[in-house]
Amino acid sequence: MKNSIMFYAIQDEYIKKVRCITHELEMQRNSKPTYFTHTFGCQQNESDTEKINGMLSDMGFKQTDIREEADVIIYNTCAVREHAEQRVFGTIGSLVGLKRERPSVVVGFCGCMMQRQEVSEELRKKYKHVNLVFGTHALGRFPENLYKALTTKERIFDVEETKEKIIEDIPVKRGNDFKAWVSVMYGCNNFCSYCIVPYVRGRERSRDPQRIIDEVESLVKDGYKDITLLGQNVNSFCSDSDSDWNFSKLLRRLNEIDGDFRIRFMTSHPKDATKELIDTIADCDKVCKHLHLPFQSGSNRVLELMNRRYTREKYKALVEYAKSKIPNLVLTSDVIVGFPTETDEDFEQTMSLVDEIGFQGLYTFIYSIRKGTPAAQMEQIDDKIKHERFDRLCELQTKKAFEFNEKFIGKTVRVLVEGYTGEDKSNQTGRTDGNIIVNFPDCGAAPGTFKDVLIEKALNWAIFGQAIN
Ligand code: SAH
Ligand code: SF4
Ligand code: F3S
Repeated sequence: MKNSIMFYAIQDEYIKKVRCITHELEMQRNSKPTYFTHTFGCQQNESDTEKINGMLSDMGFKQTDIREEADVIIYNTCAVREHAEQRVFGTIGSLVGLKRERPSVVVGFCGCMMQRQEVSEELRKKYKHVNLVFGTHALGRFPENLYKALTTKERIFDVEETKEKIIEDIPVKRGNDFKAWVSVMYGCNNFCSYCIVPYVRGRERSRDPQRIIDEVESLVKDGYKDITLLGQNVNSFCSDSDSDWNFSKLLRRLNEIDGDFRIRFMTSHPKDATKELIDTIADCDKVCKHLHLPFQSGSNRVLELMNRRYTREKYKALVEYAKSKIPNLVLTSDVIVGFPTETDEDFEQTMSLVDEIGFQGLYTFIYSIRKGTPAAQMEQIDDKIKHERFDRLCELQTKKAFEFNEKFIGKTVRVLVEGYTGEDKSNQTGRTDGNIIVNFPDCGAAPGTFKDVLIEKALNWAIFGQAIN
């Protein structure tokens, strides 16, 4: 597949130029200049921030948690709901004084929200203290843009949508020593009528399968135990190419890699989730028995308006098949409450689907108008009704999650230990292969190791027990 270009081939010159600047600063100060980054949004954004951190480290900066001291400040933003955008605007405002006191600081905002023309224009006009703005399409030009921001007085905006190829070999500074994100594809072609993601992330582009296999192999060699494959709809992996690869084939191939590790993935669009995918999860011992399958609404009328291209019946049939093939399956989902024109009857359909299926976890969102999407033009419903429905759904899901988790009492689960629950270090925490949180009294297990835990107690958000040998 010739859909990629090499990062160093296009950015090497700028990386070297920035390294000269950081080297000089280090000589003057006797310590490396520093950067501060923060991520809003989903795992894809987390993964992009790890690349930004990787590039900054490669250019001679050291990471800091103290924003007020940093030489470069970058916020990676999310545009999926209005609330997410408001938080970013709050953050932009909070940086005015800092930039006034230290004008040499690079104040940068990037990611999905910056890819929205309306937002980048607002930043250009109203927020003059922000001197670096780049969208999702410009991630691979970060060294070049940073160099310009460091060396000119001009404000740098790189927010055009480019039909770009995937850029491979961007350095990554991973945020965790045993859990890793691996993007398998970028962008989305689905245009669900409420969603901004296809507008800010562009069309689907799949990575070369061999690059993914190489990356997972090297992660496993480096001791990573939990690898999450990322894509807005992993089920359409390679449908943008003429190769004979698909997502199930990729999972089967990754499952062959030697080592004691887990593979998980998100997200699966129900319209493209196949029996082949379910069979693959069932067959592959390293693939987690966890399926995150967003249903969004239980009403066929609303699903059609959402442009989701499946019905409640098709969704349920798929879940039934999955439950029959994978007895210990953990199902999680996303749902939107208060989509335009949603009636009481439509909402009851969502409630009954949640009741019937019994998800272990449910990300429940109140519909948020996204300008430029088809749903923004539809008849909106009252905020109060949205909130009432949201509260009722959350109440039902709390009960369902508890019922699900309760079934673990008396059973032993295999947990990837992540760390401690609090400062006093009396309790450790980790996750099952179904991604359920497990807390247990400190048994001395190191983070990043597997431990068996006998479950004694369940709440709706976690299960609790004792480590056994
Ligand atoms: N590609 C993933 C979802 C990415 S966005 C998928 O198709 O499943 C994550 C979740 O945000 C969506 O599943 C949806 O539930 C929610 N979401 C997206 N746009 C929204 C909006 N305008 N208002 C409220 N929730 C939204
Ligand atoms: Fe948004 Fe739909 Fe694409 Fe998911 S599949 S990112 S919800 S448009
Ligand atoms: Fe993710 Fe938000 Fe962008 S959900 S893809 S960071 S709009």
